[in-house]
Amino acid sequence: MSPDPAQPAPRTPRVLFVYYTYTQQTLKVVDAMADVLRERGYEVQQASIKFADSRYAKRFSQFPFRHLYRDLFGMIPAQLRGATGEIGIPDTAREGDYDLVCIGSPTWWMKTSVPIRSYLKSDAAGRILGGTRFAAFVVCRRYWGINLRAVKKLGTAQGGEYVDGAHWAFAGGQIRSLLSLLSYLGTGENREKYLGVKIPPTNLESNDLEQARSFAGTLADRVAAGYAA
Ligand SMILES: Cc1cc2nc3c(=O)[nH]c(=O)nc-3n(C[C@H](O)[C@H](O)[C@H](O)COP(=O)(O)O)c2cc1C
Repeated sequence: MSPDPAQPAPRTPRVLFVYYTYTQQTLKVVDAMADVLRERGYEVQQASIKFADSRYAKRFSQFPFRHLYRDLFGMIPAQLRGATGEIGIPDTAREGDYDLVCIGSPTWWMKTSVPIRSYLKSDAAGRILGGTRFAAFVVCRRYWGINLRAVKKLGTAQGGEYVDGAHWAFAGGQIRSLLSLLSYLGTGENREKYLGVKIPPTNLESNDLEQARSFAGTLADRVAAGYAA
């Protein structure tokens, strides 16, 4: 059937990913989800938030951390008080009319990281999220609940309509996954042992990215159907 010339051509749906990433795991999820949405006909923008705050930027400008314990534990005060700081926001996450916004939020010290919190509290986020559907996902070693709830709350406070959330955590139990993360943040390598203890691999695995693809498909279905979960 040929299209009705009286009807306007359907607009290409648009999705924006806003995320922060230090060790690139959040980016892996964004890339996996973005592929699916492109396959589904979406125009996809990926906006990586820069952590520009002079108090913290230097330690996150290099990987692995130069001073593991100082750099990692030094974020505790800012994280615990829910601080915001100076960030760089790409133009695509400042203005724009999107059908879906997806926030990728790594956990830092149990909570939403300073850079993502700073974005969600910014005027730019108000312009992007106001009246727009949004989803969120957390990447973490283990602790995702407080972070995901905070993203939902902050995005909703900016006028966004929360659609759905997901999380991905790393392998291993409480202690070994921590040792593994410490080893990785300090060396940049997935090693077999840390402090003499055998450790699991840190970071996301291929089945996590499969789940990310499936989450993106579900979001596309929800947006197409025009309802929130
Ligand atoms: C400063 C810092 C603090 C972290 N604190 C936690 C935490 O409290 N709980 C947790 O599950 N993971 C924690 N992690 C692990 C991160 O969530 C994990 O490294 C994740 O991959 C970060 O996302 P990214 O790879 O996109 O940077 C922390 C990582 C960093 C760098």
